[in-house]
Amino acid sequence: MSLKGKKIILGVSGSIAAYKAALIVRGLVKAGAEVRVLMTKAAADFISPLTLATLSKHEVTTSVHDGESWNNHVELGLWADAMLVAPATATTLGKMANGICDSAIVAVYLSARCPVFFAPAMDLDMWAHPATRRNVELLQSYGNHLIDVGTGELASGLSGAGRLAEPEDIIKILADFLAQPLGKGTPLPVKASNTGTGMSTKADLTGTGVSSPAKQDLKGKTLLITAGPTYEDLDPVRYLGNRSTGRMGIALAEAAAARGASVNLVLGPTELTTTAEGVTLHNVRSAREMHAISVIKWPKADAAILAAAVADYRPSRTEAGKIKKKEGPMTVKLVRNPDIAAELGQDKRPHQRLVGFALETENGLENARGKLKRKNLDFIVLNSPNDKGAAFGHTTNKIQLVTGNKVTAFELKSKDDVADDILDALVKVL
Ligand code: C5P
Repeated sequence: MSLKGKKIILGVSGSIAAYKAALIVRGLVKAGAEVRVLMTKAAADFISPLTLATLSKHEVTTSVHDGESWNNHVELGLWADAMLVAPATATTLGKMANGICDSAIVAVYLSARCPVFFAPAMDLDMWAHPATRRNVELLQSYGNHLIDVGTGELASGLSGAGRLAEPEDIIKILADFLAQPLGKGTPLPVKASNTGTGMSTKADLTGTGVSSPAKQDLKGKTLLITAGPTYEDLDPVRYLGNRSTGRMGIALAEAAAARGASVNLVLGPTELTTTAEGVTLHNVRSAREMHAISVIKWPKADAAILAAAVADYRPSRTEAGKIKKKEGPMTVKLVRNPDIAAELGQDKRPHQRLVGFALETENGLENARGKLKRKNLDFIVLNSPNDKGAAFGHTTNKIQLVTGNKVTAFELKSKDDVADDILDALVKVL
């Protein structure tokens, strides 16, 4: 894991988890990054600026002006390769989401042209509150990257979701993200997007009908499931995407949870969602965001099912303003996205199982077998939009399960039933 030569701004806001900022600074510096720390006044009550100044080897900024001089937040915002706000309190999230610029963190955030990551930390009821949810969704809809909270014991004595992600996971997410080749001078993130999924009306897929209790053959297992499309932003209002709805992956997550699994569902932008018990939902937008969460969750998973339709390419740059039309044709340069399946396949340990999907319009079996091998999958779910009622946009699907030398064909069924067929096959190899 290297952050050699990367310039990182760390914004620390006033949570009890602020003491972990010392571990984050130390980890970033150890990985080779140059770090500048910004703190809110409240954060300085939890951890001394001197500690963070010593670890980062640079003065810490606590306000835009200190009575005698003005700290140039625009310069700092342009200097950085990435900005990380960790811990991000409910207050700081709210101010960032709404542009309330009364701290050095928000001033630099509003000027930054680099990717911005935020790792919240707060009590479980604050984290669950609709105001916080809305602010998180707003921040994501502007193109910022959420580093999701962990679950466990909280400072209040309560237990639940709201813990700051582990410092080493935070650093790994940054390192993985910045290691992806970017187009020259890529000005991320996209600010003021109106295409964000955050504020969309979501149709809940859960609670549709009464069913008999499921068998508990995945009890004690942890599953990672990717689902939905990814959107690759061209500018604040346009993106490259695909027609995946995420329905198949959501059905898999719900069926696996009903069978006793603990599921991390990494879901691309779609109108559909789930509130099923046992499913931890990670909403993402781009392939790089999906990749960042997936590589973090994979080491602790027993199996992953990669049902997402991940964009293979993204624009080499995301314009900060809406692209204007000109006379004549225009060319958009695309660069490769990470192949999540291939990466997880490479890091697969002997006890782990990896399942992929192949959507093929021609030479299905041959292509599926190629992917199986290339990505080190245990089996692959092959489907074709040529089959009536199958693949994108349908509530039904018709699949073939392909292993090295065996092919099992299934009839057209509801995606819920297809999910159970896939999980039956997984249970056999787990
Ligand atoms: O190569 P292809 O996109 O056809 O492979 C499909 C499988 O690989 C699916 O399981 C899909 O979720 C996964 N995939 C991925 N990351 C990519 C591309 C595909 O995880 N960048």
